Amino acid sequence: MQSLYFDAAATTPLAPEAADAMDALRDTWGNSASQHHLGRESRAVVERSLTRIAEVLGVSPHQLTPTHGGTHGNQQVLQVAARRWGWAHLYASTVEHSSVVDLLLPENRFDPMTFAGTRPEARLLALMQVNNETGAIYDIAALRRSFPDAVLLSDWVQAVHRVPHSWLAEVDIATFSAHKFGGPKGMGVLYTAVPEAWPELTAQHHTVDHVRLAGMAAALLRDPKAEHLQRLTLHLQQLLQASVPGLIIHRHGIAQASGILSVSVPGVRGAQIMRLLDTEEALCVSTGAACTRNIFAPSRVLQAITSDTQHHYPVRLSLHTGLTLEDTEHLAAAFASIVGQLRAQVR
Ligand SMILES: Cc1ncc(COP(=O)(O)O)c(C=O)c1O
Repeated sequence: MQSLYFDAAATTPLAPEAADAMDALRDTWGNSASQHHLGRESRAVVERSLTRIAEVLGVSPHQLTPTHGGTHGNQQVLQVAARRWGWAHLYASTVEHSSVVDLLLPENRFDPMTFAGTRPEARLLALMQVNNETGAIYDIAALRRSFPDAVLLSDWVQAVHRVPHSWLAEVDIATFSAHKFGGPKGMGVLYTAVPEAWPELTAQHHTVDHVRLAGMAAALLRDPKAEHLQRLTLHLQQLLQASVPGLIIHRHGIAQASGILSVSVPGVRGAQIMRLLDTEEALCVSTGAACTRNIFAPSRVLQAITSDTQHHYPVRLSLHTGLTLEDTEHLAAAFASIVGQLRAQVR
């Protein structure tokens, strides 16, 4: 049985270009902070990689700081902001990744569409650009218009190549992670619009992994094949709608990013579908965020979006460009057949 991967929002396979770029640096192992020639060699890799990443994102290399990934970036920003203003002044939308909401005061939440829940004393507002569970795109420009003086932190971990990179102009700080677009795990960058305003964030305290940073740059430089991803997503959606009666497709935000399809089937838990797709068909999907340990628990993000409990146990199907239309047809057929089996059991 051929294993097929539909969980790209959790992580993506390492792109050959990223693997090659990292292999080529096998003998470049100096610490990029060292002052001797081996250090300078690694520092040149850091600088070259940041320049490449900056070019793709349409920003300046000096606005980018290497991190250990999305979680590290988000947590660093929140900790620095809390030291400046106190936790009571930091707010996040209800649909943020757990690396953001888990740190903040539970009452400091706002609605990602209406912004209800924000308070005038908020100094930092966190609103992600693309949601990792639903693919919803949020309107950061509207948040900026409503709160011109607050610092806007935007988690861009799922946003690369999915929204125009020029939208970064709306945010003060954004976080990125390499392993969501073919780069290595444990590597990311932080974007700060005005780096001089954030010396605690931009001063490098850890040893930068220049090899992984080069892998990140190589992955980012690849053709994102956006049209192919869009076609795959639409095809899968149409097939599922046609073959699974009562299917709910979760939509939120101002638009839907391609590559992430979150669906629920009334009367059937997403975890049941996920398990059977895995064990009977070797098809990898997820129930929501990859970091959710209890797959039978309701989705925190969908609970925030709707009170209808039929929506709270989704399956997330997230696609990558290595898939074909035939692969999505295979998934849709297996999905429909498993839903049929599960529905027959409860009758
Ligand atoms: C929206 C979002 N933010 C942050 C993260 C965490 O990124 P990382 O795995 O690099 O720590 C993820 C990963 O699942 C994510 O989807």
